[in-house]
Amino acid sequence: MKIVVIGGTGLIGSKLVEKLREDGHEPLAASPDSGVNALTGEGLAKALEGAQVVVDVANAPAWEDAAVLDFFRTSSRNLLAAETAAGVAHHVTLSVVGADRLAESGYMRAKVAQEDLVKAGPIPYTIVRATQFFEFIGRIADSSTDGDTVRLSPALVQPEAADDVASTLADVAIGAPLNDTVELAGPEAFRLDELARRVLRANDDPRQVTPDVHARYFDAELDDRSLTPGDGARIASTRFEDWLSQSAR
Ligand SMILES: NC(=O)c1ccc[n+]([C@@H]2O[C@H](COP(=O)([O-])OP(=O)(O)OC[C@H]3O[C@@H](n4cnc5c(N)ncnc54)[C@H](OP(=O)(O)O)[C@@H]3O)[C@@H](O)[C@H]2O)c1
Repeated sequence: MKIVVIGGTGLIGSKLVEKLREDGHEPLAASPDSGVNALTGEGLAKALEGAQVVVDVANAPAWEDAAVLDFFRTSSRNLLAAETAAGVAHHVTLSVVGADRLAESGYMRAKVAQEDLVKAGPIPYTIVRATQFFEFIGRIADSSTDGDTVRLSPALVQPEAADDVASTLADVAIGAPLNDTVELAGPEAFRLDELARRVLRANDDPRQVTPDVHARYFDAELDDRSLTPGDGARIASTRFEDWLSQSAR
């Protein structure tokens, strides 16, 4: 089965392409470098020829409110139009658990806009909402750093390994469209500040992490329900400490 992975060179996309290939499918890793640009539409028609499934795991290069909203809106519109022309039977989108609860965040508003276009669009779909990737915790710390201090909310998070996200997306992509949203989360919950502290410590990073209930996560204040999944979420298998010891090796 030909499966086009938009953002196929990124963290999740490259792992997904590898898994699909191992499983005997024909993934096409699409990104601007390979001449496929979801924002301008360049190369989309050719890339989608003969494809049954499109998985959109692209991410915006700039996260300012207007830029990120334009990225997810325009790229989703372009993809859905090109998929209609190519007769694609299943559109899979990767989104974020709790995106609709974080309206103060321009990034999350853009993800909700992306989801809404997919839900209202003409292509049968599945939306996978994932929690934070273990690999993303360093970037969360960077975004909350002032000098040597990282100020982070102690809100609960239930993160997961990017490998597990890619495996779930591979399963979803080869299955029938659900026309629904599924959630995916890691096997354990942590306080966000403690999680960042453990990642920084494992990397011999001297920054100090300070808990602050008002610290903003990409512009949104958090509580224990902001980023955690609901009942019925799929639970990924990799535990944080196992990932940490493997990634440190
Ligand atoms: N980070 C998290 O914890 C988290 C949690 C839940 C969901 N998500 C979602 O996961 C998705 C993937 O994230 P990621 O960390 O794997 O992203 P990433 O590593 O930043 O990769 C982004 C990919 O998008 C491609 N891309 C950028 N602009 C494009 C365009 N105009 N047309 C086509 N492709 C384009 C990039 O290509 P180049 O390499 O050529 O630039 C790259 O392949 C995002 O939608 C994000 O919202 C993330």
